[in-house]
Amino acid sequence: MTRDSVQGALPQASVAESLAVLTDVLIPNVAKGVLIRRPRIVGMAERLGLDRRAVQRLQQLNEKYGRGPLMLQVPGEKTMALVLDPDHVNRVLDQSPAPFATAEQAKRSALAHFEPDMALVSHGRERAERRRFNEAVLHSECPVHGLGERFVTVAREEVDELLHATRQQGDTLDWAAFFETWSRVVRRVVLGDTARDDHALTEALGKLRAAGNWGFMHPGRDRLRDALHERLRRYLKRAEPGSLAAEVARVPISETTQPGHQVTQWLFAFDPAGMATFRTLALLAAHPEAARRARREAASLERQTTPELPYLRACVLESLRLWPTTPMLLRQSTETTLWENGAMPADTSLLILAPYFHRDERHLASANRFDPDLWLKPEAAGAWPLIPFSGGSGICPGRRLVLLVTSTVLASCLSRREFRLDPPSRLLSSKPMPPLLDNYALRFRLDPH
Ligand code: HEM
Repeated sequence: MTRDSVQGALPQASVAESLAVLTDVLIPNVAKGVLIRRPRIVGMAERLGLDRRAVQRLQQLNEKYGRGPLMLQVPGEKTMALVLDPDHVNRVLDQSPAPFATAEQAKRSALAHFEPDMALVSHGRERAERRRFNEAVLHSECPVHGLGERFVTVAREEVDELLHATRQQGDTLDWAAFFETWSRVVRRVVLGDTARDDHALTEALGKLRAAGNWGFMHPGRDRLRDALHERLRRYLKRAEPGSLAAEVARVPISETTQPGHQVTQWLFAFDPAGMATFRTLALLAAHPEAARRARREAASLERQTTPELPYLRACVLESLRLWPTTPMLLRQSTETTLWENGAMPADTSLLILAPYFHRDERHLASANRFDPDLWLKPEAAGAWPLIPFSGGSGICPGRRLVLLVTSTVLASCLSRREFRLDPPSRLLSSKPMPPLLDNYALRFRLDPH
């Protein structure tokens, strides 16, 4: 696109409309907690249907202003734009990190609390090196990570122990019990078996993430951050075989790599994967036919050491489509960019709201249904942006590892017990899937098959 082919100016929302985006989209998402969720606000957002309101707000603006990008009026020097068109989403994600940097200002100030040198908030040569390191350790392009067999064993062992313990809890499972098991799996996968019971590590990271939720408004907890990084250094030095820490020791690094900051991100980012897994259990409990299909696939865990579990992976992806754990994708333009209908100044923050695309019933027939086949037959969605793991060159390098661990945990659960939602009416296949599913309030009754 050249300056001559671009006519006019980008559409601009009025002050009232910009305020409505702030109150319907930005404030609820920030209040829920960007880096660590605040369970009470998540529950409130579910009850009030706030996520639906956010999607509707953007649909209204799209109907009024067309494909955009739509400039918002925000106080101060800052400029901000909403990306409303699928082609524009694909462009912004494909053209990251230049001219659309992943290191957007709000993200930088949030992550500065505990991992200022992580790839996502780095730019230029530093970003390139840290991205390379992430891809190399996480085996980004392999459906099954090289240490997959070990990770499958870890997930199975921990689920066995969890299911055994539920017998003492009246055969029920709630979030607290699930999350404890999940955190053990994560620490063993990332740091090794010696970290299995290091709850203090997860707690320290939780406190730093809570500070990060406030971005620049929180003064920071420097001593806690330094202590966390010191603890992580010890695990990395140990490089326990069968963990990502061992892989870190194998991959070459330079003085810019900052492995500790990348590892912090892995520990932190596994947390939403636990939420997605628990929600997937709920989806399967509410969809008996899908559960039967999933159980048939789960049986392959008994025959193979690292089965790929495509249907269960698709179910997790559906959970992430319906309730994305990273709903706001942010980029910052590094130069003036040209669009069909005008120029956008440099340093504009571009917001892509994933649920606006994932739940757009105007374009996606199964927008509000649970439809794992959407991921097994990608042509069904065409070029429509389904982006729970982002896309383009900034796509989540941990996505395949996430799908390996989540699908194995699910297969281990389903192959041993029957999961029923308690109460059963919590989610019903006969109704559209709710705009948000509060994972903290989910509870299951476990029965033998
Ligand atoms: C359900 C679980 C997860 C989801 C939904 C998810 C999603 C995402 C998304 C949307 C981004 C891009 C964010 C942006 O553009 O602002 C991202 C980046 C990233 N994710 Fe994940 N992620 C998950 C788990 C993980 C795990 C477990 C790891 C590591 C083991 C990981 C490693 C990373 C890294 C290193 C980046 C930065 C990539 C870059 O800047 O190039 N993620 N993830």
